Amino acid sequence: MKVINLKSELIPILKKERSAGKKIGLVPTMGALHGGHLSLVKASSIEADFTVCSIFVNPTQFNNQEDLLKYPNTFDEDIRKLKMAGCDIVYAPPHEDLYENESKRITEFSFGEFEQILEGKYRPAHFAGVALVVSKLFNIVTPDLTCFGQKDLQQYYLIRQLIKDLSYNIEIRCVPTVREEDGLAMSSRNLRIPHELRPLAATFYQCLITGKEMLKNGESISSAKRKVKEIFSESAELKLDYFEMIDTGNFKIIDQIKNENETSLCIAGYLNNIRLIDNVNYN
Ligand code: PAF
Repeated sequence: MKVINLKSELIPILKKERSAGKKIGLVPTMGALHGGHLSLVKASSIEADFTVCSIFVNPTQFNNQEDLLKYPNTFDEDIRKLKMAGCDIVYAPPHEDLYENESKRITEFSFGEFEQILEGKYRPAHFAGVALVVSKLFNIVTPDLTCFGQKDLQQYYLIRQLIKDLSYNIEIRCVPTVREEDGLAMSSRNLRIPHELRPLAATFYQCLITGKEMLKNGESISSAKRKVKEIFSESAELKLDYFEMIDTGNFKIIDQIKNENETSLCIAGYLNNIRLIDNVNYN
């Protein structure tokens, strides 16, 4: 496995692999890798012949500067994990390699109503930054396949739509969330959870399961929402941003389940100052 910092070095290597008939997979990450990221790399290396994993902490997607500054850096450990997971090249660019034109940039993504709900609502400009960096990576790597995690369901939907809207010739896979034993979804932010608060972090997943059970038992979405609010209000360390049911066909919030196979329950909030998100499918 090679570690490459510059796109000028990466592009000729990929050109050679492509002309040898290899299918190229891309897994974009911001580092601080955990089992969830590794499952994306594994998914890519099963389907693609050559997997590129990018590591780049993208400043344009952080609406909260503290979050950006506190983003964990575990680079050496990441490289070790990627070697074992079947990655072929790590692209770890410095800021200028992706944002060389930043001071003169006029291109700005905007996603209408999609940005008014869930993560879009609570993290202004976040998706514009994600779309910007992912488009840059798509243009540099020109992958045949890309893998995104279900944990960031709205991000997966956004990239799937971006691929269609901008006619990228890329297949996208949604890889299931990897969880800790108590159900907590793996996330780089989990590294910031203080030991004594760690058990409380499982509340997010427990609420999803409780909500899902209530709905399966015929209770209404509004009762499930009330219950989740109540659970969050029992703990001073927890703050709920949202608990919503989504139609994953069009990514709209629903107040009644019409298509069980295209419904997901999504939750986000804070454990002290650490923001956590999670979701499960209804079926
Ligand atoms: O999910 C992430 O880690 C980031 O949003 C991504 C896709 C790597 C873009 O910076």
